Amino acid sequence: MRHRDTRGLRAVVACVAVACTTLLVACGGGAGNEATQVAAVQPPSLHDDIETCASCHETIHAAWQTSRHAQSWKSETFRVASDNYRKEECLPCHAPDMIQKTGVANEPLVRDGYRSDGVTCIVCHQDALSEEWKMHGPYAADSPAHETVQDDSYSTAAVCASCHGHDAEFNQYHSWKEGMYGQQDFPCQACHMPQMEALLADTEVDKPLRWVGDHSFPGSHDEEYLKTAATVKLKVEDGALVVAVQNQAGHFFPGGAFRTAVVDISVDGVEVGRLEYSFENENQLESGETVTLRHELMDGASEATARLTYYKYVVNEPGTGLVQSDVGTVIDESSLTL
Ligand code: HEC
Ligand code: HEC
Ligand code: HEC
Ligand code: HEC
Ligand code: HEC
Repeated sequence: MRHRDTRGLRAVVACVAVACTTLLVACGGGAGNEATQVAAVQPPSLHDDIETCASCHETIHAAWQTSRHAQSWKSETFRVASDNYRKEECLPCHAPDMIQKTGVANEPLVRDGYRSDGVTCIVCHQDALSEEWKMHGPYAADSPAHETVQDDSYSTAAVCASCHGHDAEFNQYHSWKEGMYGQQDFPCQACHMPQMEALLADTEVDKPLRWVGDHSFPGSHDEEYLKTAATVKLKVEDGALVVAVQNQAGHFFPGGAFRTAVVDISVDGVEVGRLEYSFENENQLESGETVTLRHELMDGASEATARLTYYKYVVNEPGTGLVQSDVGTVIDESSLTL
């Protein structure tokens, strides 16, 4: 039977509030009984309580902090692009209320306070109908701190669609669904939350290890991960150089607005072609799509190269808008002796 008692959790909230480290160790170590002696303190809002989750889910919290979800409000690009948060239509996904409030896959509402914490644990996991802390997740788990609800949607793309499936600029869900990964129900998590065997809560050392998804959500902000997005290959066919760029991401490439993928082609050090793909140019590559470009070769040409570089938009010098950065990440490069 599940443990319905949430006093343990409130006690942790209280001991975090008074920064009582001994008690924190005591209750964190599973000896929750001493902790329940502390007066219960109801947090003013669930959304400011990320530190409480961290007291037991330390590893997951540390990963989340490096994710873009933790930056969704604080990021300078968002501040500037939303005109200092004045564009109200921009706020719901960047400072969302619990996704369970509007229902998985529906766009969330904007929340009242604690906006700078961005897309928090509570946004994704908290049950919106319960007055107690009750967490939706993929497992039938047993926690002394909060009830859990086993919810299969957490292993599907639907949970991501809440924010990644409504705005054309940031709509990975729809292009995923139409592409080969969506057709085979190969979810976003398989690529963006790679799993490792670990404890769900670092404090519960006696519990069995389970598959835990990486909450740093590697994506285009992770250079190594970004390099898996596409390939560029060269060959010669009927006297022409053929450059093939293949999208290997789970959705269109580049995956969202404010990014440009540039293909630079040169022969013997002289640039012979440059192509740009972006949401802004309305020419993102579909999932699995390969584009081929032909360049007629002159006699005597000896070496060809092609480079695929990914550029993000950054805040411009006066701080009034976004511009494409001068510095990009080379995703793939290829050369061929002719
Ligand atoms: C006092 C420790 C403690 C605190 C504080 C805590 N949790 Fe947990 N949580 C646990 C334990 C223990 C489990 C189950 C571990 C197991 O079964 O291996 C768990 C499980 C979970 C699960 C998995 C649920 C499932 O069904 O798959 C989620 C999600 C979760 N917690 C989220 C949170 C969030 C969000 C917070 C902060 C609001 C939080 N927890 C605060 C101890 C805690
Ligand atoms: C329906 C949800 C949703 C709404 C509404 C929304 N965004 Fe976003 N936004 C996202 C998601 C999801 C991402 C991450 C995916 C991506 O980069 O394509 C994102 C990423 C961004 C980024 C890129 C951050 C970076 O530099 O890496 C900026 C800037 C941004 N949004 C600005 C805005 C502005 C301005 C508006 C209002 C005009 C807005 N967003 C409205 C969901 C949303
Ligand atoms: C409640 C809204 C919300 C939900 C749910 C959500 N995201 Fe996000 N996600 C965002 C926003 C907003 C951003 C953009 C943050 C920024 O860069 O400003 C983002 C950014 C990302 C990025 C980083 C992109 C980059 O630039 O590197 C990845 C990857 C990502 N989300 C994957 C997922 C996956 C996978 C799921 C489902 C398991 C998911 N997200 C669920 C709102 C959400
Ligand atoms: C953007 C949404 C999102 C955010 C933010 C988020 N999670 Fe999760 N979490 C998920 C999804 C989706 C899964 C299921 C992953 C899977 O099936 O591989 C999950 C799984 C879990 C699990 C069960 C282990 C696992 O990986 O399956 C725990 C525990 C958990 N999260 C805790 C947290 C805590 C604590 C935070 C904040 C530090 C947090 N989550 C932030 C979406 C989120
Ligand atoms: C086969 C692996 C794979 C699958 C499945 C996948 N992605 Fe991605 N995703 C990538 C790669 C690789 C990138 C980096 C390339 C890029 O940013 O365009 C990426 C980039 C992103 C970004 C960053 C886009 C940007 O503009 O910075 C977001 C957000 C994202 N994915 C969300 C999702 C969501 C939501 C799903 C499910 C609907 C999903 N991804 C499914 C591989 C995958």
